[in-house]
Amino acid sequence: MSRIGVIGAGYVGLTTAACFSRLGHTVVCADVDEAKVSALGRGEVGAHEPGLAELVAEGLRSGRLRFVRGNAEALSEVDFVFLCVPTPTGPDGAADLTAVHAVLREARDAVSPGCVLVIKSTVPAGTTERVASLVGRSDVRVVSNPEFLREGHAVDDFLRPQRVVVGSEAEDAARRVVGLYAGTGAPALVTGSASAELVKYASNCFLAMKLSYVNSLAELCERVGADISDVTEGMRLDDRIGSAFLEPGPGWGGSCFPKDTRALLSTADEVNVDFPLLRATIGTNTHQAHRVVAMVRDAVGHLAGARLGLLGLTFKAGTDDLRDSPALAVAALLAEQGARLTGYDPCVDTDCGPVRVLDSPDAVARDADGLVVLTEWPEFAELDWPNLAAAMRRRVIVDTRNLLPLDKVTEAGFHLVSLGRAAA
Ligand code: UDX
Repeated sequence: MSRIGVIGAGYVGLTTAACFSRLGHTVVCADVDEAKVSALGRGEVGAHEPGLAELVAEGLRSGRLRFVRGNAEALSEVDFVFLCVPTPTGPDGAADLTAVHAVLREARDAVSPGCVLVIKSTVPAGTTERVASLVGRSDVRVVSNPEFLREGHAVDDFLRPQRVVVGSEAEDAARRVVGLYAGTGAPALVTGSASAELVKYASNCFLAMKLSYVNSLAELCERVGADISDVTEGMRLDDRIGSAFLEPGPGWGGSCFPKDTRALLSTADEVNVDFPLLRATIGTNTHQAHRVVAMVRDAVGHLAGARLGLLGLTFKAGTDDLRDSPALAVAALLAEQGARLTGYDPCVDTDCGPVRVLDSPDAVARDADGLVVLTEWPEFAELDWPNLAAAMRRRVIVDTRNLLPLDKVTEAGFHLVSLGRAAA
């Protein structure tokens, strides 16, 4: 078992730290935020991530997991340091690497001989090889090991990954990093560092492209009288296409897809590679929010002064994350056109921009001119439709997740508009 330092106790860092301690390693997890470090030390996990709080508690109890403020302890006296610091989108769309650079500079004088520095933060292809010079020590290797964690499934994705990808020009260092995951039984792929970095972008951008494709296909279905559920069901039977990521929606969002699509496009621009598919993937997603707004306007008849209840605000179900949420993009456009918005989300209890957040679907339905389903929380499929219908001023629902039971909703007297199929 190894000694591991993790820099950054955000969603990726904390999952990495807690899961490596579960796998038997001894982990020191560092963050600059004093309050966060103290809370984590008491076992208080702010993030809404199934299983994570239990793993943190177990790690603290066993003594294999510690949280510290500042990076010094997590850099010295460890065999591996995982960099899990943010790489947000900079003003030009490229990933901002300031935090990664700062940690590597600090590592130069702090790490023990033979230590392997592992970049888990999502960084553009070519970064790992380029930044190794910031460390400038022949005994210390810098290796890429991208993460593929889905919010809401992060613990499971870490402990039972579909693949572990490690990129390095030094194969022995890469193999040592692969060894840390021995307990997971995952297939490992060892590549050059630029390839490993690109696997992450290539995967996320491909998935975003698949979703933009399906969202355009849904628009087409509406025009030609086809049903998107039937079309995607037919596509799913072809295992070259695969069965996941074929649900139309209000657009893709979250902390990864918007950032990673822009960053890959920026990389392509830098090296003079034209990547029209990627540009169209992003453009289609921007269009999708406008399209949803037009659907609501057509269904309700007008937006200025309309009272609309939004069901779901997070970027997907199973998380409390509002970052780059398509629901909020749609809300902003609706508000711009004069709609008055209330919203309900099982994981959100404070107002979000123009949306006054209420505590139940019943409350948002009261006197509303329409409901708009924006996040696929399963409980929305189980609502009391006759009750909601009685509370509303007009019985209109736009379901951007195709989640609601058509028969029950229409039986209650609603006009239901969904994506990619005839309105009912
Ligand atoms: C994603 C990647 O899946 C993960 O591998 C990577 O490490 C981080 O980014 P996450 O951001 O948690 O994970 O979201 P994901 O579950 O992939 O969903 C992304 C977006 O696509 C959401 O807005 C979701 O609602 C949307 N989506 C997904 C659809 O609209 N339809 C689908 O069929 C699937």
